[in-house]
Parts: sequence; structure tokens; C-alpha cells
Amino acid sequence: MNPLRTVGARLSLALLGVVALVLGLVYLIVVPSLKSRLVDARLNDLAHARSALVAEYEQQPNDPDFFSNAAASTNARVVLLSVVSQSPTLVTPTQWSLPGRSPKAFTDDPIAIRSARTSHLERGTVSQRDGEFAEVAIPIPKRGEVLLLAAPLHDALSDVNAVQGRLLLAGGLALLVALLVGYGAARLFARRIRRLERAADRIAGGRFDEQVADRSADELGELARAFDRMRIRLAGLDHARREFVANASHELRTPLFSLGGFLELLEDEELDEPTRREFLDTMAGQVRRLTKLADDLLDLSKLDAGRLHVETQPVDLGSLARAAVEEFAGVALALEHPLEYARNGAAAGRGDPQRVLQIVRILLENALVHTPSGTPVEVAVRSADGRAEISVTDEGPGISDDDRAELFERFYRGESTKASGSGLGLAIARELAELMSGRIELESKPGRTVFSLVLPAEELTPRLEPEPVAV
Ligand SMILES: Nc1ncnc2c1ncn2[C@@H]1O[C@H](COP(=O)(O)OP(=O)(O)OP(=O)(O)O)[C@@H](O)[C@H]1O
Ligand SMILES: [Mg+2]
Repeated sequence: MNPLRTVGARLSLALLGVVALVLGLVYLIVVPSLKSRLVDARLNDLAHARSALVAEYEQQPNDPDFFSNAAASTNARVVLLSVVSQSPTLVTPTQWSLPGRSPKAFTDDPIAIRSARTSHLERGTVSQRDGEFAEVAIPIPKRGEVLLLAAPLHDALSDVNAVQGRLLLAGGLALLVALLVGYGAARLFARRIRRLERAADRIAGGRFDEQVADRSADELGELARAFDRMRIRLAGLDHARREFVANASHELRTPLFSLGGFLELLEDEELDEPTRREFLDTMAGQVRRLTKLADDLLDLSKLDAGRLHVETQPVDLGSLARAAVEEFAGVALALEHPLEYARNGAAAGRGDPQRVLQIVRILLENALVHTPSGTPVEVAVRSADGRAEISVTDEGPGISDDDRAELFERFYRGESTKASGSGLGLAIARELAELMSGRIELESKPGRTVFSLVLPAEELTPRLEPEPVAV
């Protein structure tokens, strides 16, 4: 990856930019205002001293010590300029006010010219040959002169320069620290992000054993914990998938193995007809079992993929119960179970009629297969309190507490089950019920077991219920 496009580089550059911006702003705000404050203070001092100076000068205009005394008391150069022409206004320093200096220094000084022109006190800064000056010019119109107080700004400006220098130094150091801290912090973050990236790659590669660890309380820590929850969930799903495939292939292999055995036996020429018939019957049973298993596995895979769609429409549970009882009449007769539809009322729920029938078939088959011959089985419907239910009641031995916990798991078969089911019926029934916003309820004690499919109730249109079907 281009090093400038890493999160680390971007973070450090952003931090550097912010620090540089803040320093630039501080510099622009502090330095000019400091400079103007110092100059203003100097100009105010000079303007303050002017009245006394002018009064003193006007009293003794020819005092030779006036200028040196005034210079000492104001800490500024005090120069008297004569106005030598009016338009344009020109001024020139009087030689005796500038002992030992070149008269050129203050000739045509702009502040003095302004004051001569306006006859008012004028102030400002001027760059002379020997540095910058804060100047105050006081007009003395009746003598055609201007008294100029010029304070060198050298000392004040050197203070500003020192502050400026320190600010630049501090700025440079702050930038360096920002760069180092930004780089360090970014490296730390980048390392944690790379750790998460490696964890994601591991999970994508199907390796769920290593924990995604980051104990910090910040957003990356939160992300790592979310990753770890995902890892645990995926590990669970992966385990379930492997178990499912193992169980499914085992369930498929058993009848296939048995069919293979019977095929070999059937090749025996000397087999008598009744035995051959018996073998063929058993083989037909195994084929039926395989077909049912294939159907169940297909349903489960559709349920897992979310491709099993259910209609939600009003379902007359009474007619469905009747139809199921009629359908199972032959099996019930063969297994010697009295099977009956209890006409105890009418009920309509919301769901998919085909799926409701599929669930009732699963419950009915269980009630007929997992109970001793001779015990009666009853299908009933009921509707109350916004729920509509269709239930299958048997008088078998009931379901133990141990079985009850896992009864609805895929491939789970009860401990005492003799029948050769695959343990998929109730798992499918429960998932289908949930898909229709319903559920399967179980009530069981020795001698009476009731499995009920509970659906949201629907307004029932009154109709005649036919007589119960008894077998
Ligand atoms: N009415 C019942 N009475 C007693 N035990 C039951 C009853 N219904 C279900 N069971 C127990 O619950 C287990 C799971 O039932 P489920 O329908 O899921 O699987 P199965 O009947 O064994 O196989 P499959 O339905 O896939 O052919 C059964 O093996 C059985 O032990
Ligand atoms: Mg079953």
C-alpha cells in the first residue's frame, strides 16, 4: 500500500495541518497587535509630554540646553524644523536643534510636513536612515516652526522580534511534537486495525478457534468485540452445518446400505416367492423412508436459505383437521389406533393451508408411530383470546423431561424411540410454525400428550361443520 495513503500517514498529516493552522493564527493575531500596542504606547508618551515642552520652548526659545534636556526627559530626539515653503510644504531641521547630526536626517519629514500643513498635532511612524521612529509633530504656527519628537523604535521592535522568534521556535517544536505524536498514535491504531484485518481473514478462512482480542473501551475495541461475537456465532453455525451434513449422510447411508444388501439377496436364483415378496416390501419401505428424508432435507435447506415462502391467509383449521384425519385413516387402521376428529368448535387462523397441513401430518404421524397400538388419537381445533389452535392428542407414554428439552432439535430422536424416523419432523414443524408467526406447544404426562399448533386467530365465517370422522 502507498505509505501516504495509510490511515497513519493521513492522521499525522491531519494533525500536522491542524497544529500549523493554529500556530499560524496565533502568530497572525499576536505579533502585529503586540507591535501596534508598543508603538501606540510610545506615541502616547510623546503626545503626553508635548504641552510642557511647547510651553517651555515658547518661554525661552533661545535656550541652548532646551533640546538636550527635552531629549533626556522624553527619551526621544527633539528637533525643531522650520517651514521653508508652503506649497509644496517643505521643512528643514534647524541646525542648532540637531547638534552633531546631519540636517538631512529629518528634512521633509512626512509627519512634520503634515503637521505644518494642518496646524495640528500629527503622529505616526517613519523609517529614517538609522531605523524606525515613532514621531509626534507639534505645530508652532506663529514662529513658522514644527517641533518634532522622534522616539526610536529599535528597542521596542527588538522585543517584538524576540517574541516573534520564540513563537516561531515554539511553533516548530509543536509541529515536530504533533508529527511524532500523530505518527505514534496512528501506528498504534494501524496496528490494531491490521490485527482486526487478520482476524477477519482468519474467520473468512473458516478458522474460528482464535479469539479476537482488543480490550480497549474505544470504537476499535467495540468493533473487535462485535467481530468476536460474529466469530462465535459463525463457529456455532459452522458446527451445526457440519453436524447436519454428518447426520444427513448417516441417515441417507443406512437405508441405502440396507437396499444394497437386499439387492444382493434378490440375485439369488433359488429364493422362494414369499421371501422375495417380503424383501421387496422391506425395500419399498426403505425407498419411502429415503424419499421422505430427501423431502425433509429439501425443506430444511429452503428454511435455512430463507427460500421457503408461506402465504398468510385465513385458514379454516376445522376443514384441515378433517382432511388430515381422512388422509391418515388407513395408516391408523394399520397401526391399530382409533383416530378421531373431535368436533368441539370451529377455528380459523392466519397462515398457509399447505404448511398447516404439513405440520398436522408431522404431529399425527408422531402420535401414531411413537405410541403403543390400540391407544386412541384425537385431532381437535379451538379458538380463544386471539389464538387459533389445532391439536393432536394421544394417550401414549408421554415425553420425558430429558427428551422435552431437545425434542425440536434437528435429528433428535427420543431415547425410547423404536420407530426408525430421522428426527426431523418436529424441527421442521417448529420452523414452519414460526414462519407463520405461530408456535408449537407441548403438554405431556404419562397417558396424555398434546401437541398444538398455535396461530394468530382470524375472524371465522360461519359454516356447517360435518360429522367427526371416526376410524
Ligand atoms: N406423540 C409423541 N409421543 C411420544 N414421543 C414423541 C411424540 N412425538 C414425538 N415424540 C418424540 O420426539 C422425537 C422427535 O420427533 P420427530 O418427529 O422430530 O422425529 P421422528 O418422528 O423420530 O422422525 P421423523 O419425524 O423425522 O420421521 C421422536 O423420536 C419421539 O421420541
Ligand atoms: Mg416424526
